Amino acid sequence: MNAPLWCVVPAAGRGTRVGGSIPKQYLPLAGRPLILHTLERLASHPRIAGLMVVLGDNDAHWPGADLLYGKPVLTTLGGAERCDSVLAGVRALPPEVSDDGFVLVHDAARPCVREGDITRLLDLGMPAGGGLLGAPLRDTLKRADDAGRSEVTEPRDHRWRAFTPQMFRRGELSAALQVAYAAGVTVSDEAMAMERAGFAPLLVEGAEDNIKVTTATDFALAEFLLSRMK
Ligand code: CTP
Ligand code: MG
Repeated sequence: MNAPLWCVVPAAGRGTRVGGSIPKQYLPLAGRPLILHTLERLASHPRIAGLMVVLGDNDAHWPGADLLYGKPVLTTLGGAERCDSVLAGVRALPPEVSDDGFVLVHDAARPCVREGDITRLLDLGMPAGGGLLGAPLRDTLKRADDAGRSEVTEPRDHRWRAFTPQMFRRGELSAALQVAYAAGVTVSDEAMAMERAGFAPLLVEGAEDNIKVTTATDFALAEFLLSRMK
């Protein structure tokens, strides 16, 4: 598999759960915009050939990287939902990525992904036809009623949390996202679109510290995690 492997990086969200006037991907993390940490982690992976960053409309904060670790960083315009942004990114990939070639998708908001986990996803996910990083659920799982009281304890076995990167063949992913879009279904990740299309993405266990920076307090945690990885 020597086809050039690109990574689509959805970064067109507003970060409403963090709040503030700037989308979270541009807020400082250890002194630099969060998104630069994520892009550098991806670009420094020896098997990733280029990045397609998906930006929001009227994005005034994009720092404008166009080459990282000698690899091209292209941008395109996203949409209202994450899945719209990912579809736009997959469509905008250069023609050197064939329909049969694999594509990674990784949230801009996950700066702590480990190189070794990406490598394992590639090694295990390619022969499986596609897959995603995730982790089996550790905690006991409760279902709450409307009053916030625990109604029932859900079984934990076979339950996984889904992370990114997720990796699928360009043509199959693009088709699956389009079918979901046409059906009016907002898929929450690429694997969900693929499941709907009849695929069974391989779950590849990755480190739990591949957190998605979601709230304001996650910045301190991400800084701590990154400082330990250096
Ligand atoms: N994203 C995107 N396009 C959207 C929505 C989200 O590209 N229309 C991206 C975000 O920028 C982020 C990733 O998808 O990198 C994961 O989404 P999430 O963590 O939910 O980020 P936001 O949507 O920005 O945050 P929130 O849901 O709190 O508003
Ligand atoms: Mg969101």
